[in-house]
Amino acid sequence: MCGIVGYIGNRNCLGLIIDGLKRLEYRGYDSAGVAILDKNNDINIYKKKGKVKELESEFNIEDLSGHTGIGHTRWATHGEPNDINAHPQTDMSGNIAVVHNGIIENFKTLKKKLEKENYKFVSDTDTEVLANLIQYHFKQNNNFETAVRYALSEVEGAYGIAVLNRSVPDKIIIARNGSPLMFGLGKDEIIVSSDAAAIINVTKNVIYLEDGEIAVLKYDSFQIKTITDEDIFREVQRIDYDIEEIEKGGFEHFMLKEICEQPDAIQNTYRGRINFQTGDVKLGGLETVKDKLFNAKRIIITACGTAWHAALVGEYMFEEYCRIPTEVEYASEFRYKNPIINKDDVIIFISQSGETADTMAALKEAKRLGATTIGIVNAVGSSIARAVDAGTYIHAGPEIGVASTKAFTCQLMSLVLITLMIGKNKGTISDENLMEIAAELKLIPEKIREIIERKNDFKFIAEEFKDSRNFLYLGRGLNFPVALEGALKLKEISYIHAEGYPAAEMKHGPIALIDENMPVVFIAPKDSTYDKIISNIEEIKARKGKIITVATQDDNEINNYSDYIMRVPKTLPIFSPILNSIPLQFLSYYIATARGCNVDQPRNLAKSVTVE
Ligand code: F6R
Repeated sequence: MCGIVGYIGNRNCLGLIIDGLKRLEYRGYDSAGVAILDKNNDINIYKKKGKVKELESEFNIEDLSGHTGIGHTRWATHGEPNDINAHPQTDMSGNIAVVHNGIIENFKTLKKKLEKENYKFVSDTDTEVLANLIQYHFKQNNNFETAVRYALSEVEGAYGIAVLNRSVPDKIIIARNGSPLMFGLGKDEIIVSSDAAAIINVTKNVIYLEDGEIAVLKYDSFQIKTITDEDIFREVQRIDYDIEEIEKGGFEHFMLKEICEQPDAIQNTYRGRINFQTGDVKLGGLETVKDKLFNAKRIIITACGTAWHAALVGEYMFEEYCRIPTEVEYASEFRYKNPIINKDDVIIFISQSGETADTMAALKEAKRLGATTIGIVNAVGSSIARAVDAGTYIHAGPEIGVASTKAFTCQLMSLVLITLMIGKNKGTISDENLMEIAAELKLIPEKIREIIERKNDFKFIAEEFKDSRNFLYLGRGLNFPVALEGALKLKEISYIHAEGYPAAEMKHGPIALIDENMPVVFIAPKDSTYDKIISNIEEIKARKGKIITVATQDDNEINNYSDYIMRVPKTLPIFSPILNSIPLQFLSYYIATARGCNVDQPRNLAKSVTVE
């Protein structure tokens, strides 16, 4: 959620660090700061509450030259967002500067210990405690690397850190435990970041640090060790996307760009993985575990937020088409409920970022209990992608807007592919049905394009409802999770209260909320749930609620029941969650922009939630 950037090399680094921080702002953004080592080996620190551009207005870039520095965008965990609590944090002598993502759980104990040694603190942060702890050990042994290692061996919790030491100006030390960190290798320069987005305009050659590792970086060399001082060899990896892919490309917001990218993104999810004639699916990343998957007595899918909604759709798919009992767990609950896991269980982890702390913690627990673990992940090389036994990338491309859009529909497409693969093997989907699904799958990108072309219709509806204070979203079967996702999208970017329910469940309580001021969005595909949905619509109409439907193109009957209609092309049930989600993404986007909300960086939210 917070972002780290660091640089050591032959260039004046402030501009580079600021540029990197701007690319990371989507991860967290209540304050920002930089520490630059100047030619006199003084550490110059600038930090400020607010966005990076507010920090920039604090100083004149020309005045601050230096070839080594670290920077941070913060999403507060300990201490309110203000100038003092912003990172970098220093020890009390100003010798050591630290930027830190994560949470040091035992920081109060460590602080007390240091206070006994007469250390003084000015901020409320756990990071300032770490800076002082490093200085404490540095004073004892005068070795920068040892001091960081000793300090970290006392720390409990999660961290990704970058540390400067004015007494050792030719090095940056970085370390990670539970919070992503990597560094890119340029010519006579190394750039550090918690996210590849800040690295790729310098180099595409990166090294990912693993948990429990520390790296000592000089401008022309590096050394990786474990915190316990064992040498590590790590291959350099190539980042596979370009800077243009993470820029807005003419769209007003990343969210809008990412909604409109869905035809291509979805195509990238299935490209080369399915035979459109036969429906045969081959997912290379799952080869090693496919027998486990085919013989699974039970599948558990775990995830957070939007990815959890994808998991719920997955549950319907696996049960309906593969006849495998499937359970969905919130990742944040999984490890605290003493889960009963058998060795024949397969646990699937869905995550866009591949860094969500709750999902990662659930994964560790699943591995400890001996389950087979599978990832459905977007961010290549991310922590979850590397930790699972096997996995499939969704290939949605970088998703920068905080509200997940294209990653969701690509997660759904990945789940379709897995469903077809299992269904074929188990014979629970007939060859004829497989062929029909495969043929339809090929048409999905074009059908999404058709929906995107109708975006002005959705904008019109958004204008009508932008001042509503509440919304209800209702769907059935495979489209119940779509209702949940529609409600989540709306509340997170427009701050309008919204709830999703299975449509029939409404009469067991939420119906009490209905009056002429309540817009109710029904997902009403022409499938086996249609007649029941119509009855539910009638119940709302009778109470004067405003009806907005997501309905199939050729469905004229729905005109009699809807105040507003968002049309989608006809498709097979297995693809309807993908198509039906898209008008809901537009609806929330246009409502939020009409209300003047910052859709790419909604308040209190961060793209990658790396704290539990
Ligand atoms: C909502 C949203 C979040 C994420 C959740 C999990 O639009 O983006 O609910 O889905 O934080 O994130 P990942 O998928 O990165 O594990």
